[in-house]
Amino acid sequence: MSPVQAGSVLLLLLCAQSLGAPPSFSVDYKNDCFRKDGKQFRYISGSIHYSRIPRVYWKDRLLKMYMAGLNAIQTYIPWNYHEESPGQYNFSGDRDVEYFLQLAQDIGLLVILRPGPYICAEWDMGGLPAWLLNKKDIVLRSSDPDYIAAVDTWMGKLLPMMKPYLYQNGGPIITVQVENEYGSYFACDYNYMRHLTKLFRSHLGEEVALFTTDGAGLNYLKCGSIQGLYATVDFGPGSNVTAAFDAQRHAERQGPLVNSEFYTGWLDHWGSPHSVVSSAIVAKTLNEMLALGANVNMYMFIGGTNFGYWNGANSPYSPQPTSYDYNSPLTEAGDLTEKYFVIREVIKMYRKIPEGPIPPTTPKYAYGAVTMKKLQTLSDALDELSFSGPVKSLYPQTFTDLKQAFGYVLYRTKLPVNCSTPTPLSSPLNGVHDRAYVSVDGVAAGILERDKVITINVTGNAGSQLDLVVENLGRINYGKYINDFKGLVSNLTLGKDTLNSWTMYSLSIDEAVDQGLLWETKPGPTGPPQPAALSPPTFYGGSFVIPDGIPDLPQDTYIKLPKWRKGQVWINGFNLGRYWPTRGPQVTLFVPASILSTATPNNVTVLELEGAPCSPAPCTVEFTATPILNATVQSDYKQHRRIFSRVDLL
Ligand SMILES: *[C@@H]1O[C@H](CO)[C@@H](O)[C@H](O)[C@H]1NC(C)=O
Ligand SMILES: *[C@@H]1O[C@H](CO)[C@@H](O)[C@H](O)[C@H]1NC(C)=O
Ligand SMILES: *[C@@H]1O[C@H](CO)[C@@H](O)[C@H](O)[C@H]1NC(C)=O
Ligand SMILES: *[C@@H]1O[C@H](CO)[C@@H](O)[C@H](O)[C@H]1NC(C)=O
Ligand SMILES: *[C@@H]1O[C@H](CO)[C@@H](O)[C@H](O)[C@H]1NC(C)=O
Ligand SMILES: *[C@@H]1O[C@H](CO)[C@@H](O)[C@H](O)[C@H]1NC(C)=O
Ligand SMILES: *[C@@H]1O[C@H](CO)[C@@H](O)[C@H](O)[C@H]1NC(C)=O
Repeated sequence: MSPVQAGSVLLLLLCAQSLGAPPSFSVDYKNDCFRKDGKQFRYISGSIHYSRIPRVYWKDRLLKMYMAGLNAIQTYIPWNYHEESPGQYNFSGDRDVEYFLQLAQDIGLLVILRPGPYICAEWDMGGLPAWLLNKKDIVLRSSDPDYIAAVDTWMGKLLPMMKPYLYQNGGPIITVQVENEYGSYFACDYNYMRHLTKLFRSHLGEEVALFTTDGAGLNYLKCGSIQGLYATVDFGPGSNVTAAFDAQRHAERQGPLVNSEFYTGWLDHWGSPHSVVSSAIVAKTLNEMLALGANVNMYMFIGGTNFGYWNGANSPYSPQPTSYDYNSPLTEAGDLTEKYFVIREVIKMYRKIPEGPIPPTTPKYAYGAVTMKKLQTLSDALDELSFSGPVKSLYPQTFTDLKQAFGYVLYRTKLPVNCSTPTPLSSPLNGVHDRAYVSVDGVAAGILERDKVITINVTGNAGSQLDLVVENLGRINYGKYINDFKGLVSNLTLGKDTLNSWTMYSLSIDEAVDQGLLWETKPGPTGPPQPAALSPPTFYGGSFVIPDGIPDLPQDTYIKLPKWRKGQVWINGFNLGRYWPTRGPQVTLFVPASILSTATPNNVTVLELEGAPCSPAPCTVEFTATPILNATVQSDYKQHRRIFSRVDLL
């Protein structure tokens, strides 16, 4: 069925409803099912996060989900994506969640809404805005009055906006989740969950089906489920389905069986192998659940991309990469996979699958190599980058103190003593959050890294300029360490001395790149020679034109940075995310065609943090048609397996 046809069928349905009883959706406890417009109903759903997909592709991805046989989708609403500073809301462009909901409805998909306030999701700070940390000792996800006040204000904005989209009000939203896996959090604050229940009810009304989701174990359900919210569970392929639903039955003696997150794949971390989950095991467990009459949401059906700085991290500190491909049935770029068709075959046994063509995989184009030119070092470009000017203080301040949420901050001081022999520069309390690119008088001296490298040696005379460009690599999104302050969060020592008298530059790199400021200036002086292994953070620029005479360009592509080390990349001012091929597993970054221009040359800006491969030969970046997400170079495999494995969630 075409989207237009789907739309008109839906219109007919809506008309039919308007003649009879109003639309209704509820939990039918007596018959262990959901009930929609009076009839028994079961959903087969897939997760899609609009915040990880460019708006122009929402329709394509939703149609592919519809054509797979799904009758519903599930999405999170990341609070920090919509309220980047207190009271400043953004619901436009890629953040237009209402348009997303409308599209889902037009295509014929119901919606399971997960508005948080906490969402986990491998998203920065689990979706909570970093400005909540303005109160230094705030207890997030609890009855802390400052936290509650912020939640009340946000939900007071969001939920009234969602209300018209509830099923009973003529919209697609059938159920609404409150919080997320709260039973996995240490606080176990029932008053908080009661407060949220009342808050959601007061904005959405008495009729809507509210639910919770927790790991399928009694220990999770203990603090996660609460009177008045329907308790559901999550578990992955290979689980004992009977045992998992027994856990749900412990919390809900009656009502529909629901797996709210059935894992089709799994997340990645920098430095760990790419997660791969076989289609066969996904199909087997999906079939078992559907055979029991259970409701299932597949997490993820399409993972998408952590553009910009939106990735989260796990603890002990391990950040997630830019790609959120998740080894899902639809790839990061929305491509159809074998897993997609295997899942479709399983669904076919339980539900009539829509007829008609499945939207094809969008074509990719290899634009080839682009020569990159050195622009300026980050410290040469401070006039263009530091919009608000420096802040001085005796001891270092955090990103939060400096009112910067994401990206990079330059911390500058002087060596207080002569360091003619290698002298340890150290963060004794492991307070470099998360990576510091260190230089002395403009010469790269080493890299400090949270949980990994807390000391390096430096040399230099008293009075030499010591620079640390500190990168926020993504806030912890899971567990008890989500109050994740960034920057230098404790003092640094040099030998026996505590360093002081800092000058800190908040850096508006995205704005500067977007406004073309870095391109307009001439490269600075050549600067001091660098050790072979390392250079201070430096910008590079290059451009390419979309070739003439080839039909249907521009098309999607992937950017690859062979022999580059680590950094951030923008195209035409759009922040594609981080690259780190020296660690892996991700090597290519997804470049949606929507950010490319046929009218003027396309501008590629790279901030290379460790050293670009630009001498003696000129350096290039490369646009290819094939993604590479599975090339792990430096492996932390054991560590991650121990800390955060699928077994944790069974
Ligand atoms: C709102 O978000 C959109 C999509 O990310 C962006 O293009 C736009 O610039 C933002 N608006 C403001 C005022 O920040
Ligand atoms: C699955 O769990 C059920 C209920 O706990 C148990 O009876 C059954 O033996 C388990 N099956 C397998 C294969 O372990
Ligand atoms: C540091 O060393 C230089 C010579 O390299 C010397 O002139 C200066 O006095 C020394 N300063 C201190 C504080 O020791
Ligand atoms: C620092 O230098 C000292 C003396 O050369 C050496 O013993 C030590 O291993 C070095 N430390 C680091 C972290 O490189
Ligand atoms: C740095 O050390 C000083 C003096 O001991 C202390 O007052 C200050 O709180 C410390 N700052 C941080 C960020 O740890
Ligand atoms: C690339 O940068 C040039 C020079 O600043 C500008 O004229 C051009 O419009 C930019 N291209 C795009 C697609 O934004
Ligand atoms: C990476 O994925 C590709 C494509 O699926 C596959 O051909 C290749 O063997 C994989 N490489 C590794 C190291 O797993």
